[in-house]
This record gives sequence, C-alpha cells and structure tokens, in this order.
Amino acid sequence: MGHCRVKVHLRLRPSCRPSTAIHVDHAAHTIRIDVLKQHGGGPPKPYNDQMVFPFDSIIQSSCQEAVFEQCARQVVEDVLGGYNGTILTYGQTGSGKTFTMTGDTKAYAHRGIVPRAVERIFAEKVAKPEAGITVHVSYLEVYNEGIYDLLPQRRLASAVNLVAMEDNGLIEIKGLNKMHVNTEEEAMKYFFEGERHRSVAPHALNQMSSRSHCVFTMFVERHSGLRTLQEVTSSKLNLVDLAGSERLKRTEVGGTTKKEAMLINKSLSFLEQAVFALRQGLGHVPFRQSRLTTLLKDALGGNCKTVLIVCAWAEDFFLDETISALRFAQRVKYLKTSAVINKKADAANTQRRYVREISELKQELALRDALTGRPSISYDELTEETRSALRERIQAFLAEEAGIDSIPIENFKQVKELFCLFKEAQVSLRGELEKLLRDYGGGPDTFLNHSQHDVDINPGSEEADDEECVGELDKEACF
Ligand SMILES: Nc1ncnc2c1ncn2[C@@H]1O[C@H](COP(=O)(O)OP(=O)(O)OP(=O)(O)O)[C@@H](O)[C@H]1O
Ligand SMILES: [Mg+2]
Repeated sequence: MGHCRVKVHLRLRPSCRPSTAIHVDHAAHTIRIDVLKQHGGGPPKPYNDQMVFPFDSIIQSSCQEAVFEQCARQVVEDVLGGYNGTILTYGQTGSGKTFTMTGDTKAYAHRGIVPRAVERIFAEKVAKPEAGITVHVSYLEVYNEGIYDLLPQRRLASAVNLVAMEDNGLIEIKGLNKMHVNTEEEAMKYFFEGERHRSVAPHALNQMSSRSHCVFTMFVERHSGLRTLQEVTSSKLNLVDLAGSERLKRTEVGGTTKKEAMLINKSLSFLEQAVFALRQGLGHVPFRQSRLTTLLKDALGGNCKTVLIVCAWAEDFFLDETISALRFAQRVKYLKTSAVINKKADAANTQRRYVREISELKQELALRDALTGRPSISYDELTEETRSALRERIQAFLAEEAGIDSIPIENFKQVKELFCLFKEAQVSLRGELEKLLRDYGGGPDTFLNHSQHDVDINPGSEEADDEECVGELDKEACF
C-alpha cells in the first residue's frame, strides 16, 4: 500500500485589477500575501504581515489545457493504471470551480477537466483494444443535505434521496445509476444530461452559481491483456465540483437561494472540520456529519489518489476569502491517502480455475480408490438410472428382502441422495398408514403415536456393526 500526499494546486482567476498584496512566485510555487492590518484605535497605522503559502503549482491563466496537464493528467493516468482518483475544485463562489471542472460548454477550446478526462480514457480504450476497457459513468449532486441522481433512468415525480454506504472500505451510493458507455460521445451525452439537471441559480457574484456539490464518476475496468496473467483492475475517477462558500451580504441572496447558501456554507465547514481532524491525527474524524464529508471519505484519507484545485479571486475585495481558501489548502496539503491498485477477480478466469481444480480432485479420488482396492466409483452428478436403482434397493432394504441387509456407501453425493430417498419412503409409508386408518376408522394421531413406538424403521439388529455407517467411507461403509 502506497501512502501518497494529497496534491494541492492553486488557480487564480484572471483579473483586470489584481490585488497589489498578492505576489506569485511561479518558480517556487508559492503565493505571498502582504496583509495590511489596522492596529488599535486612533488613526490607522497599517503594517505589513506577510503570509506565504506553498502549492504544487499555481496557475494564473485561463488556459484549460495547462490546468489539465498540470493538475489532472496524472490522476487520470493513475485511474487507467487501476488506482482510484479524485479531483476536487474548492473555493469561494464565482472563483472558477465550475469553469475549471466543466469549462465553457460553448467553446471547445475552453473545455474543462471532465471532457478532457473522458477524452483521455476513451483514447486509451481505442488505442489498447486488448485491454478490454469498459467504462460506466454516474453523476450525482448533494443538494440541501440530500444526495440526488442526476442521471435518473425514469423521470420521477419527486427526486429520490439516495444513501451513501461503506462497502468493503469504500463509499458506495445505493441505487445510483451507473451507465455503461462505449464511446466518448456517449459519456459526454450523459455528462451534459446531468448538467441540465443540476441546481444552479444566479446571484450578485455569479449568474450561474452552483447550488449543489456535484460528483461525476467514471468507473473503469481493464484487463491485463496477457493470456498468462488474466488480471482485471477496477478503478474510479471522481470529478468533484463543489459549491462555493459565500458571504450572504456579498451575494445579496434571499429566500431559497439564501437557504441553499447557508447549507452550502455549513457543509463546507464540516469539510474543514474533517480535514482539521485528519491533519491533527485525531482518533475520531467526523465524516458522518454531512453527506459531503461522507462522500469524500475515501478521497481525504482512504484508497484514492487525490488532487485539490483551489480556485480564488485575485481582487482586494475578496482578499479575506482568498486567504481562508489558501489556509484550507495548506491543511489538505498534508493529508495522506493510501492508494492501491484495485485488482478484481476475473469471473471467467476464476471459473476456468475451479473447473481445473475439480477435475484434478476427481483424478485424485480415482487414484485413491484404485490404491485402496475400491471399484471404480463415479464422483459425477447421480444419473436418473442410479437414482432409481438406489430407490429400489431402499425399498428392498425396508421390506427386509433376503440378502438386502445393507446399502453400500460409495460417496458423499450418494449419501445425500440416500437421505432424500429415505425421507421419500417415510412420507409414502406415512401416507399409506393414514389411508389404512381412515379405511378402518379411528384417530390417525392415536395410531401414529402408537406406531412410532412400535414400528422400527431401522430393521438392523441392536448389535448392528457401528463401523458400517454413513461417513465411514474408508471402510466400505454401508447403511
Ligand atoms: N480562470 C478563468 N478564466 C476565465 N473565466 C473564468 C475563470 N474562472 C472563472 N471564470 C468565469 O467566471 C464565471 C464564474 O465562474 P464559475 O461558475 O466557474 O464559478 P464557481 O466557482 O463555480 O462559482 P459557484 O461556487 O457560485 O458555483 C464564469 O462565467 C466563468 O466563465
Ligand atoms: Mg460552480
């Protein structure tokens, strides 16, 4: 199991009037912020306080390709290699999270991480047909503390709130639709279908503000392609576009949008608490506090390679929010996950192995029978012929026919069959007895109770040889 640090990148939204307090050192991958603080009463006495935040990379342009190459490409390659991966965008409202993840849907050149990741995965599927790559996609949103499928198969009158469960150490959403997709176009069709259903509303800082956290997932299965090593890897890529934190005074929202904003802020603060607990190494991490933290459990500390892209405004007006996003990023930067290649048993290969093993075990038994001088015994399923021969023998045995005082035991399958046939005989006898009683009058219970004491269904003598019993196969056991 490889422990890997969560990678954290910063994307600053291009601005016509960037804050003079922000200084980016691209060579050192650091951002320095000179904070002006007002001290005490009287005339303001500003002084400089410098804060430096290191990142894995800092991007200040609108170039979507650069973002994919620097921040996302490696995770997508890892997913193709069998690891789980998560890419998250985080930041204040309007800072560019959806632009980074989805991109500009009207300009192909400005497509975001999702379409580029889809393109890369299908390019691999086409280039390596021997790997038999299969892809499924799902798309969900966490809206007002409920999980909703953005790809419902049937239009439902009211959306169904789904449940996140832990399965085999990984978070699974019960009932979430996973669509099988053969081509890049099909995958994008589902992505755009989900985009149409996600919750969006305008406010003062963003005309298309996401009112929910969205997760587009690609499930990738891949065969090793080698005849000698029939391995299958099964991995998933979560592309998470979080809703942005917002100060209600700035976004000037009311009614439903205000309620949504409060729940978004609350869920983001639970996310911060979970990250804080992980960073501090606290025994209990409150993942279950919200749907979002439950969903992100693997990404924050489980079997996953994770990348966080913090989006931030560069203007003075938003400096406080930018600093708090940078602080959050620093905590995430020290989180460690333990990603493994997810190998899955190949069903066809496993079946072939079992068939081979069964055949070898049969040969082993045949050899043992030959060495112990037993006649050749079949370990195959009992045929109808063998079954009726056994039935006849049981009838003769129960009727105490001369010379039939035992039933030789051959193998386990035959013993099982004998039990069934004895039961069958007992039921039939009981039926006959009941009929007799009816014919002669009198209560069947009285007779049956009486008969249980009188009728000895085991006609063997009291001194019957105990060695001749079921299970003693090595000694030519008999009933
Ligand atoms: N780096 C960027 N380059 C060019 N345009 C950008 C960039 N970042 C954001 N924008 C533009 O800013 C607007 C708001 O961006 P976006 O919707 O991505 O914000 P957001 O962080 O998702 O906000 P919210 O949290 O409200 O959903 C969009 O019109 C987007 O095109
Ligand atoms: Mg958004």
